[in-house]
Amino acid sequence: MNIPFLSFTGQNNLVEEEIRAAFERVFQNKWYILGKEVSDFEKAYATYNKVQHCIGVGNGLDALHLALKALDIGEGDEVIVPSNTFIATWLAISQVKATIVPVEPDRLTYNLDPHLIEAAITPKTKAIMPVHLYGQACQMDAIMQIAGKHNLFVIEDNAQAQGCAYNEQLTGSFGHINATSFYPTKNLGAYGDAGALTTSDANLAHKVNLLRNYGSEKKYYNEVIGLNSRLDELQAAFLSVKLKYLNGWIDERRKIAEAYDEQLDGISELILPAIASGAMHVYHLYVVRSSKRDALEKHLNNHGIGTGIHYPVPAHLQKAYSHLGYQKGDFPIAEELAETCLSLPLNPGMSDEEIEYVCKTIKKFYA
Ligand SMILES: Cc1ncc(COP(=O)(O)O)c(C=O)c1O
Repeated sequence: MNIPFLSFTGQNNLVEEEIRAAFERVFQNKWYILGKEVSDFEKAYATYNKVQHCIGVGNGLDALHLALKALDIGEGDEVIVPSNTFIATWLAISQVKATIVPVEPDRLTYNLDPHLIEAAITPKTKAIMPVHLYGQACQMDAIMQIAGKHNLFVIEDNAQAQGCAYNEQLTGSFGHINATSFYPTKNLGAYGDAGALTTSDANLAHKVNLLRNYGSEKKYYNEVIGLNSRLDELQAAFLSVKLKYLNGWIDERRKIAEAYDEQLDGISELILPAIASGAMHVYHLYVVRSSKRDALEKHLNNHGIGTGIHYPVPAHLQKAYSHLGYQKGDFPIAEELAETCLSLPLNPGMSDEEIEYVCKTIKKFYA
């Protein structure tokens, strides 16, 4: 059997006709930037998230960057961020020249450990950026409480968790302003780069609206120094089609994860995903951990099963951040995750036989 780590086939088959119709509509309308498709999608995504405003932008990194800019966070300010996240969360802080303050995750859920946050707060701290990693919601009640107590902003990085919830409230609706990515592999993915911010603060929404478009509301009149990072009409039209299917795809992802949980249970050397109380998991990724990760990965690949590693090098040990002077051992949990994590194939449309084959192949490895 051949099971790719990533497959768009199941999703594409379902939406093909509607996507072609959306393309045709945008093509014929001859309006390609900041038009009705973008504003329709922004309305739909805000409604889906139960927030007042959504602002479509070019990608997830820009969304994080624009969130920090809208909050006037910059040089001299400190931002708390997980030690184990995709590099973009760190890059956004670097882009505004603020100081990255990494905090270790919980060893079981891989999400920011709320117990470690307060020790990292100083008079310079301006914001906390929780990342709902792999699709599991962070402990948002504790995080919001700490932020309230210390008068800090919260910016959720919801790139991996569209449609997720904590205590029934959707992620991307807790923070003052929140960012997401519609990179094609995401649970809600475009057919190219795309991203968005969500907020219920009209002032912040207005600021991002200016900042994403050269700092301008009226053409050729610039109020602030902005960037060019706009969701385009085509991607917005595609995303409007796919948004209608998101909850169904999440259900499918959760069912596949449940099957993995059941069939892989009892392998003592394999650590399966753990869910924190109150948190939902939408399984952007199904990540297991093994001390024999590299050998297990090779075994699966040799049997035709694709895998991923999210992520092989923690941000503090990346060459790009060598100037911060971190050493191996500074963030041991992030480092341990990098050495042991392995993502299994999980795609809407995956068959029971495929899931069984993956599990049997893993069992064979440990037998
Ligand atoms: C957690 C996280 N944050 C930010 C991003 C950046 O999104 P983009 O690739 O759209 O810039 C991604 C994914 O790519 C991500 O996984």
